[in-house]
Amino acid sequence: MPIQKPKGTYDILPEKAFQRNFLEKKVREIFNTFNYSEIRTPAFEKTELFKRGIGEETDIVSKEMYTFKNDEFTLKPEMTAPVIRAYIEYNLGNESPLQKLFYICNMFRRERPQAGRFREFSQFGAESIGSSDPYADAEMIMLADTIIRGFGIKDSVIKINTIGGAEEREIFFKEFKNYLSAYLNELSPDSQRRFVINPLRILDSKNPRDREILNDAPVLYQFLNESTKKNFESILLILNENGIMFETDYMLVRGFDYYTSTTFEFLSDRLGAQNALLGGGRYDMLVQQLGGKPTPAIGFAAGIERILMIMEADNLLPVKNDFPKLFIASIGEESKKFSFKLLETLRKKGVKCETDFLGRSLKSQMKEANRINAEYVVVIGDEELKSNSVMLKKMSDGSEVKVTDTDNLENYLK
Ligand code: HAM
Repeated sequence: MPIQKPKGTYDILPEKAFQRNFLEKKVREIFNTFNYSEIRTPAFEKTELFKRGIGEETDIVSKEMYTFKNDEFTLKPEMTAPVIRAYIEYNLGNESPLQKLFYICNMFRRERPQAGRFREFSQFGAESIGSSDPYADAEMIMLADTIIRGFGIKDSVIKINTIGGAEEREIFFKEFKNYLSAYLNELSPDSQRRFVINPLRILDSKNPRDREILNDAPVLYQFLNESTKKNFESILLILNENGIMFETDYMLVRGFDYYTSTTFEFLSDRLGAQNALLGGGRYDMLVQQLGGKPTPAIGFAAGIERILMIMEADNLLPVKNDFPKLFIASIGEESKKFSFKLLETLRKKGVKCETDFLGRSLKSQMKEANRINAEYVVVIGDEELKSNSVMLKKMSDGSEVKVTDTDNLENYLK
C-alpha cells in the first residue's frame, strides 16, 4: 500500500505553489510599504513559551499542541509568542523603540480537520511592538485591510471589540458568573468547564442553548473603564476618517489569554464554519509576562489557505504561466551532445529552456515542446552541427528566423 500524507495536512503541487508564490509576493510588497521587516523563528520552541504566552487554559495549549521530547518542545501553533520571545532575546526594543515585524510561515495545531481547518497551515502576520497609540491600532487594521482588498476580496467584514485589561475583566466576571450560575446545568459541557477556568471563552460558544442564555448576559463593554472606552472610540474614529468599514461586536473574544483591549477579526460568510480569514488584537502585557520590560504591542495573523479558498472561488488567482522560452530538439547522439552544451550555455545566461531526456523521436519532441508551452523551438541535426546555425521557430505562429551563430540565440530570445 502506498503511504499517504497525515490527516489534516496537504501537499502544494506546482500549480498551487505558483499561486502561493503570487500571494506571498503581494503580501511582502504591502508589508514593505507599511515599513514592516521580516522575522523568521524556529519551527519549534520550548513548550513553556506557549504555556506562559498563550495561556494554559486556552484550547490551543490544553488540547492542540504537538509536543515532544518529554513535553520540552512544541511545534509552534502561532507566531506572536515566538516573535516576542525573539524581541526580548535580542533586545530589539533597544535597537528601535517601535519594532514592526512580519512573518509568513507554517503553524501546527492538532484540531479536528475540516474545510479550511488544517493541522499544519500557514499564516502571514504582523506584530507592531512599542506603541499604545490608537493610530498604531488603526495602522494594524488598515494594513490587514489593504492586503485583503489588494487581493480583490470584497465581501470580508471587519469586526472590532475591546476586552479591556485583566482588572476590568475581573469585575465583569463576577457579574457574568453570577448571571450564568442560574443556568449552569443548561450550559454545554465546554461552557461548564470554561465557567471555572476561562469564563470569557463562553462568549465564543457556538452551542444554540449557550447562545440563548448569553443573549441576556451582562456585556463586558459596560464594565470597562472610561479611559479604555475613550481609547476604543479614538480607534474607531481614525478608521472612520480613513474610510475603513467595520462593525463593532461586543461579543468578539479571541482564543488567546494575551489579549488586552482591542481585538478584531476579518470574517467571510463563504468559509462555512471556519469563517475567520484573519484575527488579531492588542497584547500590552505579553512582553512583560515573557520576561521583558513592559511594552505595548498589537498584531494580526491571516490564514493563507482560507484566503486562497476565496480567491480561487472568485477567480482571483493567476494560472501558472512561467513556461520555457525554448525547447531544443535533437536528432542523434552527436546533436544531443551539442544540444546539451547549448542548453547549459543558455541557462547560464538566465534563459529558461528544456531539451529531451527520454530519447524521443523528433515528432514526439515537437509534441513535448508544445505540451510544455515552449515559446520557441530549435532542431539540432547534422546540418546545424556543421554550420552552428539554427532555425528558430516561434510556436504560436510557426514563423521561423535563421540564427547564423548559436552564440546569438540569446539575443533573439530576448
Ligand atoms: P488565530 O485567530 O488563531 O490568531 O489565527 C489567525 C488566522 O489563522 C485565523 O483567522 C485563520 O484564518 C487561520 N487559522 C487558524 N487556525 C487554523 C487552522 N487550523 N487551519 C487553517 N487556518 C487556521 C493567531 O494565531 C494570533 N497569533 C494572531 C495575532 C497576532 N494576534 C496578535 N498578533
